[in-house]
Parts: sequence; C-alpha cells; structure tokens
Amino acid sequence: FAFTDANLAWAEAQMKKFPEGRQASAIIPILWRAQEQEGWLTRPAIEYVAKMLDMAYMRALEVASFYFMFQLQPVGSVAHIQVCGTLSCMICGAEDLIGVCKDKIAPKAHSLSADGKFSWEEVECLGSCANAPMAQIGKDYYEDLTAARLTEIIDELAAGRVPTPGPQNGRFAAEPKGGLT
Ligand code: FES
Repeated sequence: FAFTDANLAWAEAQMKKFPEGRQASAIIPILWRAQEQEGWLTRPAIEYVAKMLDMAYMRALEVASFYFMFQLQPVGSVAHIQVCGTLSCMICGAEDLIGVCKDKIAPKAHSLSADGKFSWEEVECLGSCANAPMAQIGKDYYEDLTAARLTEIIDELAAGRVPTPGPQNGRFAAEPKGGLT
C-alpha cells in the first residue's frame, strides 16, 4: 500500500497541524483517507499509516479496530450497510432490518453478497435515535426505516440509483403549516 501523490500531500498537511512529536494525533483522518483510497483498511495500509506517524502497528490497529467507521474486512463494492442495533432502534424494529440484510446480502455480518456488491453489520448507536430504526449506508443516514423500505433501498442501490437519505417515512420532509415558529 502507498498513498497516491494527492493523498500523501493531504496526509502530510494533516500531520503539520500538530506540534512536532505529536503527529500520531492525526491518525484518524489519515486512516480514513487510506480507507477511502482502498475501500477498506488492509493490514499493509495500517502498517503504512503507522510508519508514516512513527507509531507501532499495534497502536494503529487499536485505533482502527475501535471505531466501526473503519472496516478491517472487504466491503461491498456498491454499499456497506450499518444497521443500528442499540436500544431505540432495537425497540422500533432493528431486528427486521437485520433480517433483510441476512436474507438479501449474506447470513453473516461482514460477509459479501454473492455478487460482491453488498455487505452489512450491526453497529452501536449512531446518534439518530429519534428517527429509529435507522441504518448508515456509506456516509448517509437512512432513518425511520421499515423492512420493506430497506429492501427497496438495497434494490435501488443495486440498480445504480442512490435513494434520498434522511427520514424514509416523510416526516420533516415538508415544513409544518404556518412554518416552524
Ligand atoms: Fe439507533 Fe441511537 S439507538 S441511532
């Protein structure tokens, strides 16, 4: 693994934001850029970032494995679906969403679908509890989901379309009568 010239210049700029000797503080954005370049964080990518930041591979791996924004296995070429399985979402139907992922993608989390286009996992609270149940797909939140709507979203993505993110039941889609005040 090696950064492209553009990503290397960007990473070096991130490192310069911190005082001399504290370059390891830039690890999260630099790991994120490595993941964007490769699609997921391979061991060589983590080793490369660790070397760049003058830190042990194990310390870089600790960061990469702590946050579920980082993927340590290959993800679907079209989408990786992260279904929130914490309390509010679980009460409001997360099990049904996980069932859709198991049926349509793969029985086990972090496995690829047969065509390699999709993968999924259950994650902890994504901070959108008021719109439970929800899932993050790529960088977008899809909220107020039902099993039927998640099924449609996966089908739309497979067909090359990107469904509109946000609440999927129409709430907050239009300003209330008389405005917000
Ligand atoms: Fe699902 Fe918080 S419990 S977003």
